[in-house]
Amino acid sequence: MTLILSIETSCDETSVAIIENGKKIMANVIASQVQSHIRFGGVVPEVASRHHVDQITQIIDLAMEEANVSMDDIDAFAVTQGPGLVGALLTGITAAKTLAFVHQKPLIATNHLAGHIYASQLQQPLFFPLMSLIVSGGHTELVYMENHLDFKVIGETQDDAVGEAYDKVGRLIGLPYPAGKHLDNLAQKGKDMYDIPRAMIHEDNLHFSFSGMKSAVMNLVHNANQRGETINHEDLATSFQLAVIDVLTTKIVKALDAFSDTQQFVLAGGVAANKGLREALTARLNASYPDIELIIPPLRLCGDNAAMIGAVAYHQYQNQEFVDITINANPGLALTE
Ligand code: KG4
Ligand code: ZN
Repeated sequence: MTLILSIETSCDETSVAIIENGKKIMANVIASQVQSHIRFGGVVPEVASRHHVDQITQIIDLAMEEANVSMDDIDAFAVTQGPGLVGALLTGITAAKTLAFVHQKPLIATNHLAGHIYASQLQQPLFFPLMSLIVSGGHTELVYMENHLDFKVIGETQDDAVGEAYDKVGRLIGLPYPAGKHLDNLAQKGKDMYDIPRAMIHEDNLHFSFSGMKSAVMNLVHNANQRGETINHEDLATSFQLAVIDVLTTKIVKALDAFSDTQQFVLAGGVAANKGLREALTARLNASYPDIELIIPPLRLCGDNAAMIGAVAYHQYQNQEFVDITINANPGLALTE
């Protein structure tokens, strides 16, 4: 049995988990800082770093208590090395280095995006070839994997990430940060009344573009304001969400046709919590690819958490992919590094 203590502090969640054999969650404590960032309408990096520093030791203790284990039981420490905010990452990295040094156990540096994909392993075993769509606040990537830890990015956004577009559109109509969830809720109530462009949808590649969609919404709102007309926020949310889902599912279908040996499809990242996307993708894959197993993590594992880091780190542990305590944060770490 392998027990890994994992730490995630890449953005605005301080999280520590204890994971058995990369799949069983013994503890997954998540302290969100959202309340501190709401008044700024987004994450303020300095505020995030300070919160992580304030929280980290307490969250480690809480996770140990919840899992009912001692440091002797832990086989290795894992930490998110990137991508993320440098100051935020550093807090987790410093904590993990200290633990590894004091307890003389291996240290594992993990990629945050790999973590989002491996959140699904806490639900069901992964098998290959596997395809994943990562949709988060900072990333939109289609990934193809033939083996564990073997990531090939086959498509990505050329500008904004999906979560970023949700947050910006939401902010424009007065929703609190992070707006994705609120916009999703509004979208459940409205009708598709507005024309939102589906950028790159017919292009013969697996890339995405979301900044045009965001601008189209901005123009709609500004033009309506100038004419003294009101925009129905529920209808606008519905039209925006349908356009996003249309683009995402169309590109997924293109990708599955291009990589036709895919066995499993994993939806990953914060935007995987989106109700409309979960439903549309489930329906689309059931209808067109009944043999491909779809995994969508439960809501609590879609957003940032340390359990997903422990799930990846288990495979790095098996490969003895350890790092020494001179490692640094890598804010731009790519999945393929
Ligand atoms: O993966 P994540 O927790 O953090 C990053 O690594 O970026 O993703 C956060 C993003 C935010 O942009 C947030 O608005 C979005 O995920 N999000 C959603 C929903 N829940 C969270 N977007 C659309 N619909 C949702 N239900
Ligand atoms: Zn994330």
